[in-house]
Amino acid sequence: MSRFDCMTPLPGAGFGGRIGLNGPAGAAALVAAAEAEPEALPRALAASGGLLLLPGMGGMAAEPALLLRLSRIFGPEVENYRETGMAPNMVHPEVPEIFVVSNIPPVHRAPPPRPEPPLTEDGRLPVQFPHRRGWHTDQSYRRPPPDISLFLAVVPVPQGQGQTLFADGAAAYAALPPDLRARIDGLDGLHVSSDAGRRREAVLGGAAPKPLAPHQRPQRQPLARLHPVTGQRALYLCEYGQMDWLEGPIAGLEPGPHGEGGRLLEALMAHLTQPRFVHVHEWTAGDLVVWDNRCLVHAATWFDAERLDRVMWRTTVSGNPGAAYAGEAKSWLAA
Ligand SMILES: [Fe+2]
Repeated sequence: MSRFDCMTPLPGAGFGGRIGLNGPAGAAALVAAAEAEPEALPRALAASGGLLLLPGMGGMAAEPALLLRLSRIFGPEVENYRETGMAPNMVHPEVPEIFVVSNIPPVHRAPPPRPEPPLTEDGRLPVQFPHRRGWHTDQSYRRPPPDISLFLAVVPVPQGQGQTLFADGAAAYAALPPDLRARIDGLDGLHVSSDAGRRREAVLGGAAPKPLAPHQRPQRQPLARLHPVTGQRALYLCEYGQMDWLEGPIAGLEPGPHGEGGRLLEALMAHLTQPRFVHVHEWTAGDLVVWDNRCLVHAATWFDAERLDRVMWRTTVSGNPGAAYAGEAKSWLAA
């Protein structure tokens, strides 16, 4: 009998699960149980639509190697950020597989701006694009893209700010009208890093495109991505900051901010981020959230960085992108 139980879906959402452990609690006990039963958590992740909450993992903050061990349960490759050229101040000094997301020294990463207006007409947190901005799936500008991200709240901010939003790409895809599903099944988005000068705002502002080396070039990704574990298709797209608004955002359709490709992308993103497909995670210290980038998109929200410190640790797991990427070299590594 498994030592894990998974309560699904997460309260108020149509997907996601909360992991509990029968027996001794805490990060070290959970990691040991996961290693003894290595299929349990990946199976729960797939069964819950790609989102797991593991509360009570605060012990990882004092023993960061535990986060790395747990990450390895979810796939064969955990990114070493020192090897992939991440700025050293954003990499954990002892465990280079941990990327530090924080507004305090030495990281100094600012939170996203507040939506305008800050609340919806009925007084709720805005989640739907374009009122909510910043929706993306991690590192989609790489081929093959990563599978899974793990995010630990070391020092979260109080609830009501600094949330992470998740949208269910499989449910959103299934809810599309059949003719739109048929149309997008053969289409690819063009994804690119936000610092490549091809964000929508940069293109609208007439910025001269930066010369890009081959390993920085935009990468094609299917708009409806087939999940290698569940066999389901899911909407796989980003919006203004992580798509190529110069030659894309959709390969083969009229490019640019006012083109047919941009209109289709905006319509799909507004569909995907409707409140019925979105879960808002309010962080408690020690929460570990595991999400599947192959079928979910996510967005960060504003917090008062003038008054509050926030420290989050992320790892990125890859190695099972699906048959469409079989045998490909890593696009993001310079030759
Ligand atoms: Fe992200």
